[in-house]
Amino acid sequence: MVKPNAQVAHIGIAVANLDEALAFYRDILGLDPSPPETADGATIVSLHLGDLEVELMQPAVEDSPISKFLEKRGPGIHHICYRVADLPAALEECRRRGYRLIDEEPRPGAGGRMVAFVHPKATGGILLELTE
Ligand code: CO
Repeated sequence: MVKPNAQVAHIGIAVANLDEALAFYRDILGLDPSPPETADGATIVSLHLGDLEVELMQPAVEDSPISKFLEKRGPGIHHICYRVADLPAALEECRRRGYRLIDEEPRPGAGGRMVAFVHPKATGGILLELTE
């Protein structure tokens, strides 16, 4: 079994317009965003709140997962990322227990971290990202 030391690493939020979305974090919370980066067809900026990050994601290209999400569900929480001690072991445990994976193997995600996504059908309707 995966050791129960998982933490929330970040929350991914789909936005139509990064500048508009960032205004709240800047003006109300006083946070500065990280420089934008591109991953999975999205432009992503991260905001650090202690050990937790908020990832704001705006579509960078048409037909990206994030643009489809926005079309279908509108802006809002897109995924939650949990940090686990051993990502390959967690994926192996998912497979063993029949959880549907989007990524069978760890792959590079935003911020250069190795990540893998678990299908929302497996996790109560929330897209989950796992990282170390
Ligand atoms: Co993420």
